[in-house]
Amino acid sequence: YGLVQAGGAISAAPTLPASTGGSLTILYGSQTGNAKGVASAIEQQAKALGLPTTLISMADYKPKQLKKESHLLIIVSTYGEGEPPEPAVDLHEQLKKGKLGKLDGVKFAVLGLGDSSYEFFCKTGQDFDGWLAQAGGERIAPLAGLDVDYEAGAKAWTEQALAAVAATLNAGPVGAVAGAVKHAVGHNQYDKANPFPARLSVNQKVTGRDSTKDIRHIEISLEESGITYQPGDALGVWFDNEAGLVRELLALASLSGDEPTEQGSLRTALTRHFELTRLHGGFITGLAAISNDAALHDIAGDKTQLNALVASAQVVDVLKRFPTPLSAEQLVSLLRPLTPRLYSIASAQSEVEEEVHLTVAVVRYPQEDGVVRSGAASSYLADRLDEDAEVRVFVEHNDNFRLPANPDTPVIMVGPGTGIAPFRAFLQERDAIGASGKNWLFFGNPHFTQDFLYQVEWQRYVKSGLLSNISLAFSRDQASKIYVQDRLRAEGAELFSWLEAGAHFYVCGDANHMAKDVQEALLEVIAQHGHKSREEAEEYLSELRRAKRYQRDVY
Ligand code: 2AM
Repeated sequence: YGLVQAGGAISAAPTLPASTGGSLTILYGSQTGNAKGVASAIEQQAKALGLPTTLISMADYKPKQLKKESHLLIIVSTYGEGEPPEPAVDLHEQLKKGKLGKLDGVKFAVLGLGDSSYEFFCKTGQDFDGWLAQAGGERIAPLAGLDVDYEAGAKAWTEQALAAVAATLNAGPVGAVAGAVKHAVGHNQYDKANPFPARLSVNQKVTGRDSTKDIRHIEISLEESGITYQPGDALGVWFDNEAGLVRELLALASLSGDEPTEQGSLRTALTRHFELTRLHGGFITGLAAISNDAALHDIAGDKTQLNALVASAQVVDVLKRFPTPLSAEQLVSLLRPLTPRLYSIASAQSEVEEEVHLTVAVVRYPQEDGVVRSGAASSYLADRLDEDAEVRVFVEHNDNFRLPANPDTPVIMVGPGTGIAPFRAFLQERDAIGASGKNWLFFGNPHFTQDFLYQVEWQRYVKSGLLSNISLAFSRDQASKIYVQDRLRAEGAELFSWLEAGAHFYVCGDANHMAKDVQEALLEVIAQHGHKSREEAEEYLSELRRAKRYQRDVY
């Protein structure tokens, strides 16, 4: 199966048999809300066409239902190293293992979302498309794999996919509900396209002077916005690129910055509208097509070298290494639109009312030549904004990371580093509502004296009894590393008894290493203390996931 690349044309749909009846299921796997947004837009269009339609998150979907579907559209994103978003994990795994049987008669099409800065771009979409076909499903529209600027591609794919659905679905009088398309009114008035101009009120370094990390406690005022959020939600933050970085880029491309673009002067466009810090493969291959540098051509033509460069450099680093005079138009065509960064919210409104708090690690990458490059949004918040400055924000709801509905349910939270953020929100909330369920926090960072984020608050919660247990892993305070997963293993017996008592288990933070190691430790704890085989432990964990008692917010 071919993957339609970002912005690429979508080929014509295959010819289709006559109407067969049935209904359309739009199934989405979304972590940050993009796939959900696309799926809801498709639902509205499908309903406007008079198609019987069900919209459902993979998190709420029974995998066994799959073979009963007549028409299925899947919208799914990809994270990190080609991994499915949290709500898709179970379905993804069951399909992978071939556990869902034959899917003959299921007409399907898959739309994948991703970020071409990453090596395994749109991998999860490819997985679903491939496995559905392998299981006997009938592909009625080609797989699309769309990049961060997916809007136009999603529209084109939707038209094609819905035409294919309508052609094979006996839907009654088409157009009967035309005009019934409602414009969904969001909970909040502000979103990604229309952020709220908030005020930065606190920017406080919370790691010590000798820490290896620079972590900030950020407070933003949402006064007058009417914005509401829940513990578990994320805050989207728009940012400007650094003026020095923009100047450097302009100089390298031999441009003045005064050149006109659609977004105003080139300088303004580069500052506010284009991604400069996250490189993507298209920049390098596009530059190679303009330049006649042989070394650049070699890299652009070799996937391994291309991925290595994408992972280690920023746009300016590439231009420095391969100086290429560019027109303003060429430069802009090589860049991707800027996207806001999402931070897990570290506060609960029941405690802080019209404020929102974040825990932000300032990202710095020292280069070989001694230059230190900074993460765009974190340095914007930490270094470049004065107190009281405007910062454009919006709330991204995350229903896949929520406290138990029942306040009596015990909660286990694993949040090393900045992964602590949502658990500060959870604990503030449970404190404010007087929840009686027990709370257990696992936290880790390099050094006790430098990196114990929010130490005073945890001590207060231990004293008040809100925190029943706190398990700490200061990795570098002794000869050999101690990590949160070591604490999980050491406390295995009690941990398992909490799970048996109905506890919810949450993980937030690094996806590639920590979250995987924590899951492994959790499986070992379940096997050992539950006297289970590896397979039974895996089944136990899958059950927890299905019951929404194992939730992760990892990145
Ligand atoms: P380290 O940097 O000393 O190796 C938050 O970043 C904490 O997570 C740090 O103490 C860090 O330790 C630790 N950490 C690093 N890799 C980890 C892993 N694979 N699993 C759990 N914690 C990890």
